[in-house]
Amino acid sequence: MSYNLLKGKRGIIFGALDENSIAWKTAERAHEEGAEFVLTNAPVALRMGTINTLAEKTNSEVIPADATKVEDLENLIEKSQEILGGKLDFVLHSIGMSINVRKGKHYTDQNYDWTHKGLDVSAMSFHKLMQTLYKKDAMNEWGSIVALTYMAAQRVFPDYNDMADNKAYLESVARSFGYFFGKDKKVRVNTISQSPTPTSAGQGVKGFTGFMNYAERMSPLGNATALECADYTLTLFSDLTKKVTLQNLFHDGGFSNMGVSQEIMEEMEE
Ligand SMILES: NC(=O)c1ccc[n+]([C@@H]2O[C@H](COP(=O)([O-])OP(=O)(O)OC[C@H]3O[C@@H](n4cnc5c(N)ncnc54)[C@H](O)[C@@H]3O)[C@@H](O)[C@H]2O)c1
Repeated sequence: MSYNLLKGKRGIIFGALDENSIAWKTAERAHEEGAEFVLTNAPVALRMGTINTLAEKTNSEVIPADATKVEDLENLIEKSQEILGGKLDFVLHSIGMSINVRKGKHYTDQNYDWTHKGLDVSAMSFHKLMQTLYKKDAMNEWGSIVALTYMAAQRVFPDYNDMADNKAYLESVARSFGYFFGKDKKVRVNTISQSPTPTSAGQGVKGFTGFMNYAERMSPLGNATALECADYTLTLFSDLTKKVTLQNLFHDGGFSNMGVSQEIMEEMEE
């Protein structure tokens, strides 16, 4: 169902790799809600992925940008405003990557070059993105910036590895930069803390299936899907949430406030 929630709004969507990506679903839904946007991803991901299919479907252009490179971000933000014909109303940061996770390097045995790279891609890129938007004065008043995160930023999930630390940094940057964006430009900045979701990044985490099943059984509403995450993200881009900022918003079927569920108790008693 479409509500025209984003009619007339312009934005940039990072991170659509394939049709499972949360950013992919967000782009499809944003298009249905009347938004115009530019799609972007790292050059290497553009070569591997199928983003052109999404671009055609949503009538949008693709501009490559490595989110760790400020010059790429500058180019992206300038070109996007030219293509869309004005300042931006929304930006989605849907980017995550840990080489330690990918290569199965344990948290107690980090390769710090990889740790550094993962921090840059997954977290510092959010600061770089916001600093570039801020300096270029590229956001309209009452615009909205959202990044995706996971609850391992607050609680221990052993196999989430260094991504837990990256997400803690990301959430902190949302608050710290969100203050200046709010005060100086009337722009809101939030993070959405999403349930485990079967995407390329999600499935890279060791024991992901166990992780997902556990969360499913713990959550009174069950895990939130990528499409449901897209819907929630759109509400934050819409004019219906203008005074929501500096928040880390759990979108997890209730998981984050659970102690234990009946299903898990029954399993433990077997
Ligand atoms: N899947 C889950 O279980 C889950 C749960 C909570 C939060 N998240 C977060 O959601 C976001 C989106 O991930 P997803 O699950 O849709 O997986 P995904 O693999 O589809 O998306 C991750 C994206 O990051 C992009 N990326 C990597 N390096 C980049 C760089 N240098 N510059 C620009 N882009 C780069 C990838 O190309 C990819 O498109 C991530 O921040 C992830 O941590 C995912």
